[in-house]
Amino acid sequence: MLALQSPLDMHLHLREQEMLQLVAPLSARSFAGAVIMPNLVQPVNSRDRLVSYRRAIVSACGTDTFIPYMTLFFREYTREELLAVRQDIIGIKLYPAGITTQSDAGVRDFDSIAATVSLLEELDIPLLVHGESSGFVMDRETEFLQVYAKLAGNFPKLRVVMEHISTAASLEFLERYNNVAATVTLHHLLLTLDDVAGGLLQPHLFCKPIAKTPRDRDALRQAVLQGHPQLMFGSDSAPHPRHAKECCGCAAGIFSAPVALPMLVQLFDGAGCLEALQTFVTGNAVRFYRIKPPEKMVQLRQKSWRVPEVYGTVRPFLAGQELQWSFADQDN
Ligand code: DOR
Ligand code: ZN
Repeated sequence: MLALQSPLDMHLHLREQEMLQLVAPLSARSFAGAVIMPNLVQPVNSRDRLVSYRRAIVSACGTDTFIPYMTLFFREYTREELLAVRQDIIGIKLYPAGITTQSDAGVRDFDSIAATVSLLEELDIPLLVHGESSGFVMDRETEFLQVYAKLAGNFPKLRVVMEHISTAASLEFLERYNNVAATVTLHHLLLTLDDVAGGLLQPHLFCKPIAKTPRDRDALRQAVLQGHPQLMFGSDSAPHPRHAKECCGCAAGIFSAPVALPMLVQLFDGAGCLEALQTFVTGNAVRFYRIKPPEKMVQLRQKSWRVPEVYGTVRPFLAGQELQWSFADQDN
């Protein structure tokens, strides 16, 4: 038996309506809270939209203890707008325009954002960033490091989160800044590009940023297993219905919410590093974001189960595979 205290998912897509109803309980069962991404069809970019979205999430989670740490979609905000919303958000999420799912309203010109970024620094609101350029797909994250360097260097009190890092170069970059942290997904700890496209194409493993080389994957794995203090777990669980994945023009996103915690335990346990897991799923996030998550003990036991082929309309990560750890209160 293993007990985790208030595990957190620091990067999560919950969507809206039926999809929200389907996926939110699966995160609420595993985690004490999650950072909720704002890239809805209509981005969450005002306090009104944020409040109604949070209400919908809380209602979809039922009775499980689960705090949605809300984010606003980056645009130019005034001081008044930010002051009004400051208590309701954990940060602002910046997407480069067009780089991934529902990011058309994102930033086109990084030279034009200084005024808002400066307000975030002054008001101590973290900036969460999808860090990819529009260059060659394998180089996008590395090319974007120069933007991170400007943000972290020009705004030294701003807390910056490099979301879902996928390369060894991003890890090396992190070492140089103490106002920067990063989230790491489960899938970037497990996959390389070979898993996605080395044999028959696997649309359910297609995500942004795309999985990289074995060297990148192994560097990320080693860093989290050793308890790297700037790395926080963020699943980037991003559900899309099967018809949007199994088609010409497959949407980017891996739905990992149902397997994230059991598979993380399997990974850390298999490497003999279970003691680093609590740091990865709670400690580092609590310190960086200065949050106090609700008390919630999540227990897992070493009993195998087979991941369902589908949850409603969505195929989960590791579908059909046998996992070694399950939730203590799980029936199968
Ligand atoms: O694979 C991804 N899916 N990456 C993202 O950045 C967005 C996400 C989504 O919203 O589907
Ligand atoms: Zn995401």
